[in-house]
Amino acid sequence: MKNKIIAGNWKMNKNRIEAEQLVTELIPLVKDTKNTVIICVPFTDLCTAVKLTKGTNIHVGAQNCHWKESGAFTGEIAPSMLTELGVEYVVIGHSERRTYFGETDQTVLLRTKAALAAGLKPIVCIGETLDERNSGNMENVLRRQVVEGFKDITAEELANVVVAYEPVWAIGTGVTATDEQANDAIKFVRSVFAEKYGKKAANALYIQYGGSMNDGNAKGLLAMSDIDGGLIGGASLVATKFATIVHSK
Ligand code: PGA
Repeated sequence: MKNKIIAGNWKMNKNRIEAEQLVTELIPLVKDTKNTVIICVPFTDLCTAVKLTKGTNIHVGAQNCHWKESGAFTGEIAPSMLTELGVEYVVIGHSERRTYFGETDQTVLLRTKAALAAGLKPIVCIGETLDERNSGNMENVLRRQVVEGFKDITAEELANVVVAYEPVWAIGTGVTATDEQANDAIKFVRSVFAEKYGKKAANALYIQYGGSMNDGNAKGLLAMSDIDGGLIGGASLVATKFATIVHSK
């Protein structure tokens, strides 16, 4: 089994002072892991996070980036603005972006492509809503998100991508997918990648689970055959909880 990639998604939480406290507390707690540790912080915390984690095993990510290098795009951030700061990862297409900010498979593709071109590693989020799952459309939705959202992504580029399977009904709800539900969905997603990129590339691809993963349920989820890590929201805001997840496997 691969080592895991454990990423915290702070969402719109923690000002600069709070970020400083959280990162400082986290550094000694996760320093001995073989897993990859990432914190995806608000834009305003990036400088603080990069500075404090220098020389540690914690990598820093942003939560979005635009597809253009510069221009009249008020409120957006270019990929090179992130790399210039020392940011390594970027979350793309989170369901909150898709639901509240009109993100589509097409904009996800544009952002992913641009992030890769700039040398960032995108964490691309996919996942079905409860209605889609209950109406038997889960696989159709996941297939569409992979086919459309990765349309122009080459095999070479895919090697620098992390995928996060996050069922929308499990995000921030306290309802976690069961170990089997998460593993089965990820297996399916991997099979769709295999159709396009081949089995070897699909097996090498890191696919995380996200959605109410916490210090209590991480062990079970991370022990599953196809779950290569976690994207953690709420529980990543508490250093001890996030560290417990990091050390779960
Ligand atoms: P949650 O969020 O862990 O708070 O459910 C996960 C995510 O949205 O990435």
